[in-house]
Amino acid sequence: MPSLPTVPRSLAARVAQLHRRKPLPVTVARPDGPSRRWAQSATTSARRHVRVAEVIHETVDAVTLVLEVTDGRPLEFRAGQYLTHCFDIDGATVKRAYSICAAEGDRLACTVKAIDGGVVSGFVHRKVAAGYEYAVLGPTGEFVLPDVDENDSVPLAFLAAGSGITPVISMIETELRQQPEREISLVYASRRQSEIIFARRLSALAAAHPRLRVVHVLSQPAPEWPGEAGRLTGERAAALLAPRRDAQIFLCAPTGLMDSTTAALTDAGVAVSRIHRERFYAAPQHTRTVPTQPHDVQFRASGRTVTQQPGETILEAGLRGGLKLNFSCTVGGCAACKLKVISGAVAVDEPNCLSEQERSEGYILSCSAYAQESVVLDA
Ligand SMILES: Cc1cc2nc3c(=O)[nH]c(=O)nc-3n(C[C@H](O)[C@H](O)[C@H](O)COP(=O)(O)OP(=O)(O)OC[C@H]3O[C@@H](n4cnc5c(N)ncnc54)[C@H](O)[C@@H]3O)c2cc1C
Ligand code: FES
Repeated sequence: MPSLPTVPRSLAARVAQLHRRKPLPVTVARPDGPSRRWAQSATTSARRHVRVAEVIHETVDAVTLVLEVTDGRPLEFRAGQYLTHCFDIDGATVKRAYSICAAEGDRLACTVKAIDGGVVSGFVHRKVAAGYEYAVLGPTGEFVLPDVDENDSVPLAFLAAGSGITPVISMIETELRQQPEREISLVYASRRQSEIIFARRLSALAAAHPRLRVVHVLSQPAPEWPGEAGRLTGERAAALLAPRRDAQIFLCAPTGLMDSTTAALTDAGVAVSRIHRERFYAAPQHTRTVPTQPHDVQFRASGRTVTQQPGETILEAGLRGGLKLNFSCTVGGCAACKLKVISGAVAVDEPNCLSEQERSEGYILSCSAYAQESVVLDA
């Protein structure tokens, strides 16, 4: 347990002590490059209750939950945003982010792909049926189309892999309703043809909009598959997207593919500011920031102390210790888990959505933060 600061005898000594103990988080750069989503912290909006109106089986391992808000007030969202879904599983509330796959103005819907051993995706696939009611938070997220006038005529290019198509189809459909002649290309990587989520919806969109180009890439195609095949590399993705230099580009795929595609695009002269990314996976953790020793984390308001084990985030340690901590995306993008450090050094993965002011005030994101020594938090 860390000791509390002693009261210094003189003002000068007090200032010197405060200066030494200033709880600034240590930030360590990640190699992932910038992402628009990390630009500013979003506030979590009020909890809303939804009812599952319909479950649509998109593929063998992806279901769409069509949702209606039970209080009757519309839940407005921007194409590309996500909701935090709060499910009661085995007596505990478990939250996960799922992007909205509907176009703006359409019935609210989210698509969940089953992950091997996945707590929430498995629960949704096994237990959730029409009539099921639960709570959502949000919408949240800045992976949205830029709303600047100068961008209205530039082409849009999208790269999606697997369930990464969910925010992308919402953006494409929304955009084509507003600008049916917009030049859009989509490169979409799936394993097999039967695993292409929204296959019919995408071909209907392409048939109705000649300036929408959809390229499917299958990593495990059947022998008769006539299209692109093989593991998608960044170079190949960039070549298939073939964006104009002034295009706005949106990537929602595994981090490695987004990194290599970003590198290939910037090598080809695309400005990194025109590349927007959405991350579904927890970001890779910078190995140098992860402590190798256990450290005590004291939550001052609740008076509880937990021991953060090597490799655990502060959030994981707190939840394991039975603390009720707020969180949503778990990848540093929403600020739902923001906590203030009172004392001790904390490393926070970058990039994240904390503003400069929040950083200078000593805030951290517990989902992406590691105590480097015994720390005290204002929570
Ligand atoms: C902003 C955002 C939007 C998202 N939108 C969607 C969406 O529209 N549709 C969707 O299906 N998912 C989406 N996700 C992912 C989703 O939130 C969950 O992470 C995913 O469903 C796994 O949760 P789980 O409880 O089933 O798995 P967990 O029990 O949390 O994890 C089980 C195992 O799966 C691994 N794992 C966790 N997430 C993934 C993943 N995404 N892919 C592969 N392995 C994983 C874990 O490392 C662990 O080993 C989104 C995530 C974020 C951050
Ligand atoms: S849970 Fe979203 S930033 Fe930590």
